[in-house]
Amino acid sequence: MEEVRMEKLYEGKAKIIYPSSEAGMVRVYFKDDATAFNGQKRAQIAGKGAVNNQIASALFGYLEEHGIPTHFVRQLSEREMLVRQVQIVPLEVIVRNRTAGTFARRYGVEEGRVLPKPLLEFSYKNDALGDPLIYPEAALALGLLSEAELERIRALALQINTLLKDYFAQRNLELVDFKLEFGRLADGRLVLADEISPDTMRLWEMGSGEKMDKDRFRRDLGGVEEAYQEVLRRVQGL
Ligand code: C5P
Repeated sequence: MEEVRMEKLYEGKAKIIYPSSEAGMVRVYFKDDATAFNGQKRAQIAGKGAVNNQIASALFGYLEEHGIPTHFVRQLSEREMLVRQVQIVPLEVIVRNRTAGTFARRYGVEEGRVLPKPLLEFSYKNDALGDPLIYPEAALALGLLSEAELERIRALALQINTLLKDYFAQRNLELVDFKLEFGRLADGRLVLADEISPDTMRLWEMGSGEKMDKDRFRRDLGGVEEAYQEVLRRVQGL
């Protein structure tokens, strides 16, 4: 039943959401499509969908085992996972351990500087506006979430950072920064949603600092498929 193609509920840049035969669940299908710079740069990365599904499934499983509530139920197939249906909180929650990317550009600092403590940033998920940075107070003023939800998201994001930093350090990868999205279950409980993969994280090889993530695509560094495959290999512990 799960393999039967049904009408899409939603199609994003890297994933498609399909209905599931199980109540309260949906299927997430991971595409090979890659976009950067708000969709201005587009390409296909061969095998990315399968790799990201496997990485995200493993990471959600690991986080669940460590007490983080997520939407993840189980991996269904090479490119699909079963998740609880949520209403997405329209915020991108970015956690940074070192300077990189837009943070380094915005403040004119070099990449790779260790931050004194993990930094949380929020963007308003709105393609038409280009996902602008948003003050948490502005998100509250706009009614995007409640104060209790904001505090819960902050606490969860920092816990997730601690867990993922440790997980990747054991695999000789440094977690530089990453983006999270949260959703509300039918009963209002917040869970980690969307995906966690080399599309949504910066991972640097410890020692050499070699980039093992989507920056290889954004910056035309080559070896994109190989880097994603190598992250999967380490996640699988092979
Ligand atoms: O581009 P920036 O430096 O702000 O990205 C910070 C982190 O958040 C990176 O790991 C990037 O891959 C991730 N991100 C994302 N989706 C976005 C913006 C950033 O996954 N729309």
